Amino acid sequence: MEKYEYFSGTPEVGIVPRAPHAGPLLRHVFEQEHGRGGFAGKVSHTYHLYPPTNWLPGEGRHLPQWAPGWESPLRPIGGLHHVLGVAPAGPAGDVYRGMGRLVANATAAMNVTVPRAPMDYFFEHHGATMVFFVHEGRGALETTFGPIEYRKGDFLIVPKGVTHRFELGPGPHYYWMYESFAGDPEKSEAPTTGQFITHSRSDYRFPRSLDTRNESGRFEIVSKVDATYTRRVHPTHPFDVIGWRGEYLPYKFAVEDVRPLVADRSHVPPSGHTIFTLPGCYLCVFTVRSVEKEGMWVPFFHKNLDYLETLGYHFGDFFSGGGVVGAGMVSLHPVGLPHGPKPRSLQAFMDGANAGVHQEVGIMADFANPTQVSELALGLSRPDYMSAWAGYTTDPRFTYAPGRLAEVRALGERLADARDTLRPPEDETRV
Ligand SMILES: [Fe+2]
Repeated sequence: MEKYEYFSGTPEVGIVPRAPHAGPLLRHVFEQEHGRGGFAGKVSHTYHLYPPTNWLPGEGRHLPQWAPGWESPLRPIGGLHHVLGVAPAGPAGDVYRGMGRLVANATAAMNVTVPRAPMDYFFEHHGATMVFFVHEGRGALETTFGPIEYRKGDFLIVPKGVTHRFELGPGPHYYWMYESFAGDPEKSEAPTTGQFITHSRSDYRFPRSLDTRNESGRFEIVSKVDATYTRRVHPTHPFDVIGWRGEYLPYKFAVEDVRPLVADRSHVPPSGHTIFTLPGCYLCVFTVRSVEKEGMWVPFFHKNLDYLETLGYHFGDFFSGGGVVGAGMVSLHPVGLPHGPKPRSLQAFMDGANAGVHQEVGIMADFANPTQVSELALGLSRPDYMSAWAGYTTDPRFTYAPGRLAEVRALGERLADARDTLRPPEDETRV
């Protein structure tokens, strides 16, 4: 033992050579590079007992119709809002064969899966890095880099190309899965609020223990590129890794560790709750947080002129939902179409109500235009969602009144320049 121990400049676990591609250990184990950006981007190296190319000749083949819901045809969404009911378990049953595409643009997609059956194969997504959100369920994500235990409320990031399988724990499972085709999710940070809002890199949990398998048998790996699924079969277990080093890794991130930006006197816009940005998409978490004391605590009416908004409802009373959405459902608000608080929520705000705490967790992913919706999603769409704003056409508080203009002009005289109360004391010399 040396007198001093040092951290390596790069994360590593197990038996690795002193540096990639170098040293005498490489005459005895098999190095594999997982590299992005050609050979110039993020990278990790795994060290295997057997060559990763030891597939059985004649066993490789394409698998037509392997995950039909994942390839559900896409349609333009047009100018109507949708809310998708809770997805049923797919007939095929496991995480990937039961995957259902909901929406997609050129660089990102949202999917849902309700697995009931174990995976009797390993999976590699060769076309996207995946971000799972575990709405319901627990288990272990087993990967080349080691296992990651997960539970309800965890995000799981599975980088493009990493061999893995889900070991499902007992109970129901319900996951949303976001695909990033053109790059990995990047942690969102605003230059003015720094690296610890809305979460810290130290909240990420990477595999730390290897479960090295020296096993022979028939081990199937299914890969996906675009809509093509391919099987290959290896005679040794793919988790024959005795060490790894690098920064291109799977990890998990618990939604409980989102520490949101809140403001007493103004409404933080949805983008203030962003946790990841990916090409053509940003992912936000609306979590349990203090209600604004004096600013609007309901969302302002808005047209999102460049994105289709998806919101997956995970937990709570969904203050903006006006009582028409429930856990497991997903709303789709297409580009350009105005939306905002449902009438009941706005009435409560106008009446001065304030619950003190937003008791909710919602996962929002906004997709750059043009984004299309799948036939599978349209099949889950509930017909009454556009009516959720119907109170604006019937409640006398919101409908036409001959004296409305005069009333608002009078209010303007009194309130247009008024400030709220959480502010420095009035200075008599200022106007
Ligand atoms: Fe919105």
